[in-house]
Amino acid sequence: MHQPSMQQFMSDPAAINRLRAQFLAELAATSGEPALRGLRDRYLGRKSGAITALLKSVAAAPPDVRPTLGRLANELKGQIETALAERLATVEAPRHPADAVDVTLPGRDFPLGHRHPLTLLRERIEEIFTRMGYQGLEGPECEDDYHNYEALNMPPHHPARDMQDTLYLASPFNERYAVPGTGRRDAYAANLLRTHTSGMQIRYMETHAPPVRIIVPGRVYRRDNLDLTHTPMFTQIEGLVVDEGVTLADLKGTMAAFLGELFETDAKVRFRPSFFPYTEPSAEVLLGCIFCKGSGCGICKKTGWLEVAGSGMVHPALFERVGYDPERYTGFAFGMGVERIAIVKYGVDDIRMFYENDLRFLEQFGQ
Ligand code: DAH
Repeated sequence: MHQPSMQQFMSDPAAINRLRAQFLAELAATSGEPALRGLRDRYLGRKSGAITALLKSVAAAPPDVRPTLGRLANELKGQIETALAERLATVEAPRHPADAVDVTLPGRDFPLGHRHPLTLLRERIEEIFTRMGYQGLEGPECEDDYHNYEALNMPPHHPARDMQDTLYLASPFNERYAVPGTGRRDAYAANLLRTHTSGMQIRYMETHAPPVRIIVPGRVYRRDNLDLTHTPMFTQIEGLVVDEGVTLADLKGTMAAFLGELFETDAKVRFRPSFFPYTEPSAEVLLGCIFCKGSGCGICKKTGWLEVAGSGMVHPALFERVGYDPERYTGFAFGMGVERIAIVKYGVDDIRMFYENDLRFLEQFGQ
């Protein structure tokens, strides 16, 4: 390719047109990024570019033709710049990955995590009770024998202790535990992992005068092997209400209102007599099976009923132990397993699913 010569366009507009024609012909014959850059240098280069030379010669032209030549020369310069930029844009490799983004593609989904189904359910249960005026609080997972058993009418060697296989801590040690909301700290000897949250009934009453209206969610531990319905650690929610004139009817009404709200149905609720050492009378709370509506299915083991909580009227001996007047106060208590309720609510048939962290399972509970 030959260098455009300076003399050509010294003279007149026709020379400028020839330079244009020459450029267009060369552009048409050029391909590839390096060659296009070379072409750009030959025409637009600061030192020896043809257009640079043209503009210099225009500056030196006689004043009468200078404006016309100047306009034509600048037009040509703009035309060459645009044409080169367009061609280069088609061959240049993207300088930055952002240039390669196809803006017509749908946006990329960044999956956000969500809370664990058991946490969501626990929070939902807490929310229902909070709206009924309950205060939520937590207690220690390392518990002492007194609060887990003895103060709940299960002295050493009481047969009821056999109902729960306890994980005892290797060596008794002293812990300090602050009772929420009181700023008070109680020293106690922790020597087991609590087998239920019921010990918090005692802990709370020891430090608070009636009336009482609390729920206590938390982890509990038992010496169970993993199977469809057992895990050595699970979650309970304890409830306790104490005041003057609290009756069994209040307990039934509370359970019916709670279950109706949680399962969003006109829940059928039934009480079955039971035994817990810390309540008298005691009852299991049964919910009409939400899957078969009572006709009997695999989830309710053909009974038409699902067991969802233990409950009863607080045993007067507990009140005596914490310094409440049993003649003046009555109360009810209940305890439920969050996993058990989750199994019932979601129709999950294996409790282990909640602890295996399989995303295919967990993602079904996202919000
Ligand atoms: N603590 C019992 C359990 O672990 C559940 C329970 C039953 C709690 C009756 C209560 C109650 O407060 O009154 O199975």
